[in-house]
Amino acid sequence: MPKSMLEKAKTLEPANPNKSTGIFGGKSSGILNWNDIAYPHWYKMYKRLIGNYWQADEVNMSGDVKQFATLTDKEKEAYLKIIGLLSTLDGPQTRTALLLSLYATDASVQSIMAVIAQQEAVHNESYSYVLSSVVSFDEQNESFQLGRKDPILLKRNAIITEQYNAFVEEPTIENILKTLVYTSLLEGMFFYSGFAFFYNLARQNKMVGTSTMISYINRDELEHGRFISELFRATLAENPEYNTAEFNDWVYESFKTSVELEIEWSNYVLAEVEGIDLNEMAGYIKYRANKMLRMMGLSEIYPEHVDNPMKWIRAYVDNFDGTKTDFFEQKSRQYTKTSDLNGFDDL
Ligand SMILES: [Fe+2]
Ligand SMILES: [Fe+2]
Repeated sequence: MPKSMLEKAKTLEPANPNKSTGIFGGKSSGILNWNDIAYPHWYKMYKRLIGNYWQADEVNMSGDVKQFATLTDKEKEAYLKIIGLLSTLDGPQTRTALLLSLYATDASVQSIMAVIAQQEAVHNESYSYVLSSVVSFDEQNESFQLGRKDPILLKRNAIITEQYNAFVEEPTIENILKTLVYTSLLEGMFFYSGFAFFYNLARQNKMVGTSTMISYINRDELEHGRFISELFRATLAENPEYNTAEFNDWVYESFKTSVELEIEWSNYVLAEVEGIDLNEMAGYIKYRANKMLRMMGLSEIYPEHVDNPMKWIRAYVDNFDGTKTDFFEQKSRQYTKTSDLNGFDDL
């Protein structure tokens, strides 16, 4: 297949129509009328994203500040390693959202990616915020060095690093599609063993401030995963020459490799953490991978993991009622009924 490099979208081009003629490599003026966009239902996605606005320092960390010292050594170590991991995912995500926006020739996609990039920036800030609450400056820095130095973390992230940088060097439709595949994996699967660690602490009434913040990040990532899988399907439909058996095989292989690496990482970081069953975690990772594949219009690859084996997790991200009341009160969320879902039914 010939590689044709995409050019960055023009910022303003009055000769082009306002309604985009194609998401990448199409034509659009740069003027956005939300009532006249190529994919009208994306306005709802934009509204949902923007409705999730929050800031890191709204979370009260005073309980966690006292409690951190009482965690076991294994819990402290996992806490710092997982924050280190999450920072290696949200950092590149801020920029990848921008890069996708620069090549998108659809002003609605540019706006949605701008909101996603803003939220990724808040996620990054939140890791600095929680770490500065619970450990010394030197320990904070050590945690943020893990993404550069920890061999298992480097191995786990190598494949994302490679694909994300390939898009910078060769902005082609193929690399955009592949980047969207890794973005789906990231938004929908890579974060989730880390999230589970914090929810497991919260169900023991430990570090509830951190887990509240994680649940806000989690809610954002679910929305991002939803939009990115939509963007993937639409881009593939507009460029059917890439919708080949070979490309589908690449996607499935990328998912399988990513699942294996994620299980290896979770075994490394969550070993000996009380309350986490590593087999259940592996099942949860496969369940999340299936979920993302379905959202991307593809088939599940782990038929034995179509249901969530860690149902208790749902209580920790489902506790959103459209207000921030319970967020600020930070009352125990142990008793949230998993049947009272507010649209977040896909954990
Ligand atoms: Fe994020
Ligand atoms: Fe995200």
